[in-house]
Amino acid sequence: MSIIDSAQMQEFLQECSAAFTGDTFQRLVLSKYQGNDTELNRITLRPLMIKEQRLLSFLYEYRTNHVTKNVCLKDALQRFNEWLGVDFFNAHLLTDDWEIQFSIASKGKLKLKKYRNKNTAIKKSDAAKNVTHDRAKKRFVAQDRPYLNALGVTDAKGEIIPAMSRKWKQINKFIEVLSRAINQTGLHERGEVHIADFGSGKAYLTFAVHDYFADQLNVKTQVTGVELRQGLVDLCNKTATELSLDGINFEQGDVQHFKAQGINIMIALHACDVATDYALHMGIRTGAEIIMCSPCCHKQIRPQLKSPTLLAPLLQHGIHLGQEAEMLTDGLRALLLEAHGYDTQVFEFVSLEHTSKNKMILAQKRKKPRDNSDILKQINALKTFYGIQEHCLETLLAS
Ligand SMILES: C[S@@+](CC[C@H](N)C(=O)[O-])C[C@H]1O[C@@H](n2cnc3c(N)ncnc32)[C@H](O)[C@@H]1O
Repeated sequence: MSIIDSAQMQEFLQECSAAFTGDTFQRLVLSKYQGNDTELNRITLRPLMIKEQRLLSFLYEYRTNHVTKNVCLKDALQRFNEWLGVDFFNAHLLTDDWEIQFSIASKGKLKLKKYRNKNTAIKKSDAAKNVTHDRAKKRFVAQDRPYLNALGVTDAKGEIIPAMSRKWKQINKFIEVLSRAINQTGLHERGEVHIADFGSGKAYLTFAVHDYFADQLNVKTQVTGVELRQGLVDLCNKTATELSLDGINFEQGDVQHFKAQGINIMIALHACDVATDYALHMGIRTGAEIIMCSPCCHKQIRPQLKSPTLLAPLLQHGIHLGQEAEMLTDGLRALLLEAHGYDTQVFEFVSLEHTSKNKMILAQKRKKPRDNSDILKQINALKTFYGIQEHCLETLLAS
């Protein structure tokens, strides 16, 4: 009889399932690994909550790095079925009430032992806190990823170089925001995903998104970084070659003239002034499921702004006028995205303490079309109120 059919195996799976559904699951460790991956030591699982969905987080503990994958209970149980007695020969489940040890000896003898969990100090409420606490502490990017070292974010030992700590925070926040959008749009279930990063610069985020898909989601990607400066393009292509990465390349070009097709994720972080509008336009035209931009240098709207009489005393101060122009430029961008089939959010990306360029516009393509006539009316009313003649994105969308 195979281990899968054995009563002990079924009982163990039943215990795992009951602990998870009963919210008493604290931790499961799969150890005594004897599979083909010479780097893997063990896997530790904990429950976690993502977007109202309870999942099991698998922490793959390799000799030199850790990788996390989150799966639902059904898939987790299927993996235990496939792995126990084949790859892993020991499983230790800790719940609020029990410790359950399931082991498979070399001759295939199975042992299932169940003890009371004596450490009553950590009970359900504490475990629940841990879920949230872990989530709060969780880094979305593993510090030992090779590209971080190649780009000078980490040193040879994998430690963050102090001068790069802001960039490190930004990379993590970027992947955190993007990962949520990827889950919501279902891109993590695609066979292949195409990504364009306009104004990729030194490409910290371009490499990060490529690595996230390849390493954490196991999804094939084709990532293209588009950058004006040839020197940066050459440098980034050289880095990709040195890291032996497939599916990432950099092209010299101006986003205003770049032709792109079939993009699933359009990224434009800190592309200057109307370059953001050209990138947004390309994202919309190509039907990207996710559009993510962090605008900067808002120059187009400010000279057009007429202070409405009521606001004139406020806008007489140059700083307020600049803030108003920025809010209007980005507010209209968000409304134009809404009017073209996207659910759109505008929020603080990384705290102002880390950078002044901290606004994010995140748009996800709506699955069902909806009547947008009211939004178009709102856009026109705002333009009339402020005397705005032209907004670059609106002009591009009308052409
Ligand atoms: C501030 S950097 C941001 C780099 C990167 N996106 C990030 O956030 O780390 C902006 C980059 O956009 C590039 N850029 C500006 N206008 C552009 C355009 N019209 N087409 C392509 N790249 C552009 C600049 O050369 C610069 O490297």
